[in-house]
Amino acid sequence: MAVISRAETPEELFTQTAEFILSLAEKSKDKFFTVALAGGSTPKGLYQRMISPQFINRFPWEKMHFFWGDERWVSSSDSRSNERMARESMLSPAGVPESHIHAVDTSLPSPQASAENYGVVIRDFFKSGSQIPRFSLVLLGLGDDGHTASLFPGDPVLNENEKITAAAKLETPEPRITMTYPLINAAENIAFLVSGESKKKILSEIFSKNCPVPYPAMKIRPSSGNLFWFISG
Ligand code: 6PG
Repeated sequence: MAVISRAETPEELFTQTAEFILSLAEKSKDKFFTVALAGGSTPKGLYQRMISPQFINRFPWEKMHFFWGDERWVSSSDSRSNERMARESMLSPAGVPESHIHAVDTSLPSPQASAENYGVVIRDFFKSGSQIPRFSLVLLGLGDDGHTASLFPGDPVLNENEKITAAAKLETPEPRITMTYPLINAAENIAFLVSGESKKKILSEIFSKNCPVPYPAMKIRPSSGNLFWFISG
């Protein structure tokens, strides 16, 4: 069962979500609090809120490790890079050490190689053997077409049930690397962050009782964790 929080404004949404993440990090009994960051534009406001004077000294940054739920197949210096956005809006200002930042290496020869490598990076960090690594928190956005991370409608990656990461959107000018359903759904907590007029229609469809379209975001179902939606109009 999902927990849905609605905010009047994006500012209120970012504060609510920052408080939520802080409470998870403070309550976590694990050695590390592992977060898979969402890309796109909406989360930028959240990341900036997390390093605002209201929050920056409250987060246990020293126990937090940051990964990405997906990445564009671009250089980390490219303005489209999810890594660049998160570094600029949060990780650098918070002084997060490089050893706590686990980005997708998009300098490898292909999106497939980067995805394969990222899976190894994640498994090596969690040392979970054949088990699927369990993130403390996976943050997700929602596209107006119902995609999340880089799990887009009609993409073969939607059927990936073995690998924990994969290349996606290979037929497009901008291939992606994404966490797959098995990895995302294994998380202890999954939180969607959705804001804006343009998302109202897709949200009402996804939350409708008998949604006729199997949007990718609807297959986000934590196998044993908790699902949250943070929404603002
Ligand atoms: C990306 C994201 C993607 C994003 C949605 C929503 O790399 O773009 O991972 O899934 O979360 O497209 O994006 P906005 O928040 O910018 O609307």
